[in-house]
Amino acid sequence: MKTESTAPSGFQALVDAAGAAINSIKINGVSAGQHRGHPVRIKTRLQGSESIAGLANLFFKMCDAHITVLADPKEWQRWEIVCYQLLNGDQFQAFAKGSRTVCQETVPGRNLRDLLKSGSLCRPALEAAAREIRRAHLIPCREYDGPWSHGDMHMGNVIYDESSNRARLIDFEIVHNKSWETRTRHADDLLVFLQDLVGRVTGRQWLPLSLCFLQAYGRPRVIGRLRTLLEIPKGIPGIWWEIRSHYCERAKLRRRIKALAHALDAWAKADDRTPRSPTAVRHTAPTLAERVQ
Ligand SMILES: Nc1ncnc2c1ncn2[C@@H]1O[C@H](COP(=O)(O)OP(=O)(O)O)[C@@H](O)[C@H]1O
Ligand SMILES: [Mg+2]
Repeated sequence: MKTESTAPSGFQALVDAAGAAINSIKINGVSAGQHRGHPVRIKTRLQGSESIAGLANLFFKMCDAHITVLADPKEWQRWEIVCYQLLNGDQFQAFAKGSRTVCQETVPGRNLRDLLKSGSLCRPALEAAAREIRRAHLIPCREYDGPWSHGDMHMGNVIYDESSNRARLIDFEIVHNKSWETRTRHADDLLVFLQDLVGRVTGRQWLPLSLCFLQAYGRPRVIGRLRTLLEIPKGIPGIWWEIRSHYCERAKLRRRIKALAHALDAWAKADDRTPRSPTAVRHTAPTLAERVQ
């Protein structure tokens, strides 16, 4: 794997390997079950997860990622339930079982990563995801002393139900550092989602789909902040970008991110008060692919 780095190559390789390992290690086991006749997901902190989470946090600090894995099972359990109830409590419940397990009523649908893999990710799913992320970003949260944010907002953590055209967010074990400004936390959630998408679609699909997502999110100031994050960093923080974008080939990643940055600049220029302007979107995104291969 190639990375642009100013760090010594041996050290870089070590950090690279650590990052890849952290990304592939699971700290939870998730299984399907039943509770009082309702389908549930049973999520349990695995033995030894505390030290893995501790290492991951060290790595995140080195990468300047501004996120923390909740290493303490009790703390994670509480946060997972708080967020689940906050976002999905209108219809679905979550509760603790023992000291290392959370049971959540299963939300209907499939996660967006699976939809993408099977070629069934459609524009309505992306739009529903964006609407739900926006809704969640406007919910006040005591722990953040301000609006809520996810911290690990990749496509696998969004479940889309086609029959209701509704997306829901899951998986709350990573938190944004509170020192980060709200708008930056929100922009980071958008960035993580797009990093997940960038290498998994064709070059022709990338701009229409990413702009469709951002258009549905529709918060100009947050999108403006996202624009400032569209610089692939050098050195160790660049490794986290690579992991987030699934080791998308460097030149391709740079090209696509640059194209998005230019499209957002054009958006802002066309109408910096309403970047949802359909004219501007049509200008930069001629056709929106209905199906992603
Ligand atoms: N409450 C839920 N409703 C529906 N599917 C779920 C739920 N919880 C987990 N899943 C499924 O299990 C997968 C893994 O769960 P997640 O909470 O994201 O744990 P992990 O930490 O392993 O990513 C999700 O991508 C999703 O497909
Ligand atoms: Mg997950």
